[in-house]
Amino acid sequence: MMSAVKIAENIYWVGAVDWKVRSFHGHTYSTKRGTTYNSYLVVDDKITLVDGVHASFADEMLDNIRRIIDPSKIECIVANHVETDHSGAIPRLLELNPKAKVYGTAKCKEGLHRYYYVPMDFQVVKTGDELKLGQKTLKFIEAPMIHWPDSMFTYVVEDAILMPNDAFGQHFASSERFADEVDQCALWDEAAKYYANILWPLGSIIKRKIEEVVKMNIPVKVIAPSHGLIWRKDPMKIVEKYLEWASGKTRKKAIIAYETMWGATEKMAKKIAEGLADSGSEVKLYNVAETDITDVFTDMLDARGFIFGSSTHDNDMLPSMAAFMELYKGFKAKDRHAAVFGSYGWAGGAVKEIESVIAEAGGVTTLPSISVKYMPDEKELEACRQFGVDFASKL
Ligand code: FEO
Repeated sequence: MMSAVKIAENIYWVGAVDWKVRSFHGHTYSTKRGTTYNSYLVVDDKITLVDGVHASFADEMLDNIRRIIDPSKIECIVANHVETDHSGAIPRLLELNPKAKVYGTAKCKEGLHRYYYVPMDFQVVKTGDELKLGQKTLKFIEAPMIHWPDSMFTYVVEDAILMPNDAFGQHFASSERFADEVDQCALWDEAAKYYANILWPLGSIIKRKIEEVVKMNIPVKVIAPSHGLIWRKDPMKIVEKYLEWASGKTRKKAIIAYETMWGATEKMAKKIAEGLADSGSEVKLYNVAETDITDVFTDMLDARGFIFGSSTHDNDMLPSMAAFMELYKGFKAKDRHAAVFGSYGWAGGAVKEIESVIAEAGGVTTLPSISVKYMPDEKELEACRQFGVDFASKL
């Protein structure tokens, strides 16, 4: 359990650190470093909590709040986002003070009702609305689809603190609360993984929202997201990184993601990689049956080429590859090159199925595929190497 941490005068982190969680969003996201659920307490004439925590951590959050004030004195609860990792503790807060008013977007109001079915005095807010707490003022900025329709940012005007909920977060459990206090490689790895696996399909919305906030001309001294570390030194660095990711900037790099049954498809993968590397392209190989695919998608974020392969099983791709391709479809990657390879015994089918998922997902230029019957011979391995060389020339 972590204590409350002051982040500005009369503003405290009172959230919870989840050291144990190892998967998120229905096992589509591995959280190898755990996570945090960040709640922020603003002590003013109206005592306010911005975001809650997962229900299973409500007691920890309440204990943290008790170190500062009696939680039953919380009058205002800002729900930036309805997802249960942040709203789960709201019913507990309302048990302590049923008169507390909840602030959020119209979609948040609908979502909180549908999740908890508890009565609440809910005030719908829109971009530009302000809530005067006494000395401090909260300004609300709707942020639909960053990353749910209900999402919203809260800005503490006097302290120039942006609380953007899921945006700019990382799944990173730590005893430290600020980004400048932890290992920087681990921090940026987690920030990129978070962007790739949660926000990648929303790049154009993110870019527009950042531009909109910049036009509001509000100073930002601290960015306090709802997961992971708080950005207080050079907070715009993470914003610039988001703009770079959202712009789809890539480099001469190819990711080969495959699954193999008896090793033939893997032999092909290695020869294709050889051709790419010999042609000056960075290349990474991942057997998706043996890899955390969250990491594969993170590595794909700045890669200009994707090469997917599978052996054929029952006229289709192997099951781990099928799960990978199903998630790939949702990423809506753009401006990349893609190609497919695989081995088969008699009828084939995996290559065609992967091609059809790529076509359905769209956004990439496809190059001709390569297939091999049973185990590739020397000539076919050379063809795979040449396939890599040809692919590299497009990157
Ligand atoms: Fe961290 Fe969208 O919830």
